Amino acid sequence: MAIQKVGVVGCGLMGSGIAQVCAQSGFTTVVREVGPELVDKGLRGIEKNLARSVEKGTLNEAQRSEIRRRLTGTTALEDLKDCDLVAEAIVEQLPAKRELFAKLDSICPSSTIFASNTSSLTITEISTSTKRPDRFVGLHFFNPVPVMKLVEVVRTIATDEKVYEEMVAFGAKLGKTPVRAHDSTGFIVNRLLVPYLLDAIRAYENGLGTLEDIDKGMKLGCGYPMGPFTLLDFVGLDTTYYIANIMFEEFREPAYAPPPLLKRMVLAGRLGKKSGQGFYKY
Ligand code: 3HC
Repeated sequence: MAIQKVGVVGCGLMGSGIAQVCAQSGFTTVVREVGPELVDKGLRGIEKNLARSVEKGTLNEAQRSEIRRRLTGTTALEDLKDCDLVAEAIVEQLPAKRELFAKLDSICPSSTIFASNTSSLTITEISTSTKRPDRFVGLHFFNPVPVMKLVEVVRTIATDEKVYEEMVAFGAKLGKTPVRAHDSTGFIVNRLLVPYLLDAIRAYENGLGTLEDIDKGMKLGCGYPMGPFTLLDFVGLDTTYYIANIMFEEFREPAYAPPPLLKRMVLAGRLGKKSGQGFYKY
């Protein structure tokens, strides 16, 4: 079954990015948020990105209108009933995701494939809230979604082989490079990235260098686009803290334990770029 219509649940940072790339790649896309103001906010962000692409000449006016025409916002989950694929990017909380997918399971036909953009929860545990764990995968995108080239396509022990391959092909149709990952907490990227970010905080706590020098070291010495503290502020310290806790809970290894400074910064509301202050001020 070829995917034609995609439903995206959540129109925040990740959901709006996913909706944008789906519409941009030719899929009829409907994105759902809980309230009309959140739908508007998400769609405005997408429109801004599209306008920037027109200014830069990477899209023309006709293409922009076509993309915008393919994309609709809604607050009603029922509007996702005829989607071939529903990709979820809501709050990173297991009960909320399970509740959402249980509802979607009763709304969508049995042929619809479900995907979660979770970065750290267990896909298997989310999928068992439905009667279709065989048609359930992880599609893990990276921030900013329209720019980052990767999508991790995650299979559980219950995922049907054909569904999985269809999702790998779907990732490629979005212009992303799909990598195959098993349903192991953190998948590939966060399994390696999170301990690196936590180590940078520990190094800073131990007086290894200034924030700026550690950032410069990794940026210029290793060719990373951002140093670890700039990246931590970009990802969000609350998000990193949350992921680290889940990974520590799963693996019980010190490498995943959130450092005390990270916890205190989150408690103090220094969440990174989004709150105006993290390791740096914005
Ligand atoms: N949305 C859309 N486009 C964006 C954007 C956004 N939020 N931010 C930047 N861009 C575009 C710009 O328009 C520009 O496009 P152009 O090349 O066509 O002109 C291009 O990206 C480069 O942007 P800039 O020139 O402004 O800035 P940089 O060259 O510094 O790139 C960056 C910005 C792409 C964010 C780069 O710094 C980068 O790659 N940083 C690392 C990001 C990263 O590691 N993300 C993964 C985080 S981990 C994650 O998401 C997993 C989760 O589970 C935690």
